[in-house]
Amino acid sequence: MDRIRIIGGAPLHGAIPISGAKNAALPLMIASLLTEDTLELTNVPRLADINSLLRILGNHGVDYTIAGKRPGQTAETGQTIRLSARHIIDTTAPYELVSTMRASFWVIAPLVARIGEARVSMPGGCAIGTRPVDLLIMALERLGAEIEIDRGYVIARAPKGLRGGEIAFPKVTVGGTHVALMAAALADGVTVIDNAAREPEVADLAACLIKMGAKIAGAGTSRIVVEGVSRLHGATHEVLPDRIETGTYAMAVAMTGGDVLLQNTRPELLESALEVLRRAGTDIVASNEGIRVRRNGAAIAPVDVTTDPYPGFPTDLQAQIMALMTRAKGTSRIRETIFENRFMHVQELARLGARIRLDGDCALVEGVERLKGAPVMATDLRASVSLVIAGLAAEGETTINRVYHLDRGFEALEVKLGRCGAQIERLRG
Ligand code: EPZ
Repeated sequence: MDRIRIIGGAPLHGAIPISGAKNAALPLMIASLLTEDTLELTNVPRLADINSLLRILGNHGVDYTIAGKRPGQTAETGQTIRLSARHIIDTTAPYELVSTMRASFWVIAPLVARIGEARVSMPGGCAIGTRPVDLLIMALERLGAEIEIDRGYVIARAPKGLRGGEIAFPKVTVGGTHVALMAAALADGVTVIDNAAREPEVADLAACLIKMGAKIAGAGTSRIVVEGVSRLHGATHEVLPDRIETGTYAMAVAMTGGDVLLQNTRPELLESALEVLRRAGTDIVASNEGIRVRRNGAAIAPVDVTTDPYPGFPTDLQAQIMALMTRAKGTSRIRETIFENRFMHVQELARLGARIRLDGDCALVEGVERLKGAPVMATDLRASVSLVIAGLAAEGETTINRVYHLDRGFEALEVKLGRCGAQIERLRG
């Protein structure tokens, strides 16, 4: 199994190109099941999760091609993937495939909307909490799907098609909103989604569905209205920049000090996180080229952070801000409100010398003068990158095991950081 080795202490200087967002690309790829025509997605990141989803879609009968390099493109240019679900030959998403990635459960929506049936294994994914799918099922039921749970599978049936309905989510759910949007797009009549997730990835899915012929108003707000259509057609859509990757590298620069331009990204995607970084003593300047992040000499100031649905501080940056705060001058309080078990990085950060006390959904992080390199283990995607951030500032050598978690969500991480002066390498095997 690959490992990442970091020798800490080097400040970061240079430019980092930000990839397309994994969490936008996944639902966009799934939306290809809604049409017989070809959906072309550009700026798709090169990640293990994208490849896993291609396998799952292929099993349903989706043909796909990944375009070759074009003039002017570099290794950093995202991929162009064309997906064609002309013939859906299998409406089952089996356990072996779905258990590797939770988002693949979302195929249930386009399959039942277009074909009238779907049989999808209950999902797996990162071990960050119980992560039920009750609200996704509720959304489909609201649109007239009949649901049965049988031996670990959710079976959804709507032989006469879905019909529009009212979906009021009791809790904000990104996946629930994606599922509701895709199902409602092909339902007969009008659907109103209340307390919808406002995440940019939801708005990106809606923008693509609109290009495919869907009638959607209000995406990006908490009330979305969808007027169903009988058929969707092909489209071309560019995946939006990855705000979590952007925030992660911004925190890495805040941690090591230095001056880095984050390219091909937009500050409005992560205002709450950038604001926290400013409070922590980082200079953040947005321009047409991207976001410039600098910290030269100033100490890291402690901050209090609570994770919340968008536009609040993202849970997917909680581990990273905690890593940064391990070296703040003072004590920070980090509260996790989205996932109940998303503190697995705490014990690994402690191996590097961090002082963190857990109290229910809060972590109290007492900044220390120095971290010291050690072998650590990645436990989930965002937790593992928090260990990279800590390792970049720790004295001596940090080796991170179970790097496959990182490969699920960060494209060419060691290359991007290495070019900015980090001493980081992948040890194969
Ligand atoms: C998405 O997961 C993201 N995944 C997650 O990113 C992200 O952490 C999460 O949204 C929150 O922002 C993708 O986009 C692929 P939710 P999702 O439904 O949709 C509860 C990463 O690292 N809930 O918004 O699965 C749930 O337990 C990943 O890239 C129910 O109770 O998250 C949680 O407490 C990790 N019942 C809250 O809602 C349900 O049926 C929000 O979850 C569904 C969710």
